[in-house]
Amino acid sequence: MKRTATIAGIASIAILAATSVQAQQSGYGQCGGESWTGATTCVSGWTCTFLSEYYSQCLPSSSTLTTTTSSTTSSATSTSAASTATSTSGGKLQWFGVDESCAEFGTAMPGTWGVDFTFADTTTIGEFISQGFNIFRIPFAMERMAQGSVDAALDEAYLTNYSVAVNYITENGAYAVLDAHNYGRYNGSIITDTTAFQTFWSNMATAFKDNSNVIFDTNNEYHDMDETLVFDLNQAAIDGIRGAGATTQYIFAEGNSWTGAWTWNTTNDALKDLDDPEDLLIYEMHQYLDSDGSGTSATCVSSTIGVERVEGATAWLKSNGKLGILGEYAGGPNSVCEDAVTGMLDHLTANNDVWLGAVWWAAGPWWPADTWASIEPPSGQAYVYYDEILQAYV
Ligand SMILES: *[C@@H]1O[C@H](CO)[C@@H](O)[C@H](O)[C@H]1NC(C)=O
Ligand SMILES: *[C@@H]1O[C@H](CO)[C@@H](O)[C@H](O)[C@H]1NC(C)=O
Ligand SMILES: *[C@@H]1O[C@H](CO)[C@@H](O)[C@H](O)[C@H]1NC(C)=O
Repeated sequence: MKRTATIAGIASIAILAATSVQAQQSGYGQCGGESWTGATTCVSGWTCTFLSEYYSQCLPSSSTLTTTTSSTTSSATSTSAASTATSTSGGKLQWFGVDESCAEFGTAMPGTWGVDFTFADTTTIGEFISQGFNIFRIPFAMERMAQGSVDAALDEAYLTNYSVAVNYITENGAYAVLDAHNYGRYNGSIITDTTAFQTFWSNMATAFKDNSNVIFDTNNEYHDMDETLVFDLNQAAIDGIRGAGATTQYIFAEGNSWTGAWTWNTTNDALKDLDDPEDLLIYEMHQYLDSDGSGTSATCVSSTIGVERVEGATAWLKSNGKLGILGEYAGGPNSVCEDAVTGMLDHLTANNDVWLGAVWWAAGPWWPADTWASIEPPSGQAYVYYDEILQAYV
């Protein structure tokens, strides 16, 4: 294992070196964003598309039909390995896993399956489950799940495809986090209609209420919004979910300012008053370790930056009697980041009375293998470097 990892590590350094002299980025690779120094143009058939100030990505040129080899149909073999992957007490986090990206990819809404977006691969999820990983956060786009308006009936085709990975995960004893990956926005505008948002979550909860291993994540990374609105949207989601009869599942609430752990104690203090009648509310925070905390650079500030950025949140959880989960984090494949990541995970583990888990961003079939944060087996750069390191935490 170690030997394989080393050889693959050398290979990926070679790929990285090759990439740096390449003029053009491959499909779905990063091609721009604050402090990005790599290629800013894409290979033929792909267009560098602005997604946010932190991230531009090579997406299929609109006129180009791209064939994809990924498939969502290979759910055939259920292993029973996962039934042993239940929570442990003392010295471990209850949940340890990865984000399973790709259903949220692309900017065309609703867009086309296999062109703009695809779904998580149950074969590689099964690999993680066999290693003991027990939580998978699966982003989706609200504009695809509820087409035309926030409170539209759920789209059956998208929901059915999305449910394949959800069901695979939960049937194998792990937890599936339904992540509305929308930054508090729908079709580019901040969601202000809390009633419609409540209906959306009521519809989602109705679809999944019989699955006790499903977790509802109200929205990914609210930012640049009125804090009262962030509170109200979270409360509306809670009310919609519980009102639909989903009373046994956990709910993850995210906060403003990209739900950053490092700013939680100053930005999101008001969220302590969210009210879940079932008392199954968990605060989901994200933390990256590069200079601006955006997760766009493989360089970490220092080997201790992980602990430094989350300890204020730990104190907040403790003093308010709340529970938290780190729903996104990553570090580049280098020794400074490795120490920063393990230092942070050791801190969470030592405080597992308030921290319930950690989830790496991200796995997913369409990440190019040379994306530094890609933990998609078998050749994602983070998988090659970090999988064995992370297995110590499951
Ligand atoms: C999305 O916004 C655009 C304008 O920005 C508008 O033309 C379109 O109708 C909107 N679509 C939906 C589904 O709201
Ligand atoms: C769902 O997946 C099938 C392939 O399994 C694909 O043909 C179809 O277009 C997908 N639909 C959506 C909306 O994702
Ligand atoms: C808030 O959290 C940050 C990041 O962990 C920490 O540096 C800071 O000391 C905390 N501030 C307070 C007032 O707890």
